[in-house]
Amino acid sequence: MRQKLVVGNWKMHGCGADNRRLLQALVAGLPTVGDASVAVCVPFPYLAQAQSLLAATPLAWGAQNLSEHAQGAYTGEVSAAMLADFGCRYAIVGHSERRALYGEADAQVAAKFAAAKAAGITPILCVGETLAQRESDETVAVVSAQLDAVLDAVGVAAFADAVVAYEPVWAIGTGRTATPAQAQAVHAAIRARVAGRDADVARGLQILYGGSVKAQSAGEIFAQADIDGGLVGGASLVAEEFLAICQAANR
Ligand code: 13P
Repeated sequence: MRQKLVVGNWKMHGCGADNRRLLQALVAGLPTVGDASVAVCVPFPYLAQAQSLLAATPLAWGAQNLSEHAQGAYTGEVSAAMLADFGCRYAIVGHSERRALYGEADAQVAAKFAAAKAAGITPILCVGETLAQRESDETVAVVSAQLDAVLDAVGVAAFADAVVAYEPVWAIGTGRTATPAQAQAVHAAIRARVAGRDADVARGLQILYGGSVKAQSAGEIFAQADIDGGLVGGASLVAEEFLAICQAANR
């Protein structure tokens, strides 16, 4: 059995005082969550705060992006080693907002994945189709190409300690979730794609669903055979809601 994992992606939200309240409420509520692993991916300036508040707790933390470069003249960028310095367990790579708004292409996403791995950070690789792509029946082709780009660059063995998140672009921040059946079909396709390279790695791979996950919908989504938890945006900013989603991962 793969362990369930629920990751909050705060995106560009928060301030020191609000974060403190949110993190303390999550830590206080964590014993009600059961076996699922839980993490929060916070904006870079708050990594130190996450580290100091969470270091002695079961709540893991991570970043939402990183540079593909190890160091050098890259003004404004943050390296994997810097994230490791702040105790990051996870780094999101290739989020659709990075791909769409900041022009991150598959090759760069693959390089970021490799950079995270090299620093001992577990990458959470996001893949997902746009509405137009879904409507023209390209979902599996699009997601497979995004996955293949990274598999080709880093090798399937690197996925033994990595997480994939399926996030249909049309479901992000829209209130419109994929149905459990729609999500399961894509998750199964992702697992099969990885299994084509290594069946053991595919069996152990945690594949999260992301896109308007709410406490109300989480249970049915997380109950699908190939859905191992969630990558949660908006709902991760409200302690009660996020904890309820984490609890749903255990049912
Ligand atoms: P929402 O849960 O706000 O739709 O965001 C999903 C997401 O993009 C998580 O990475």
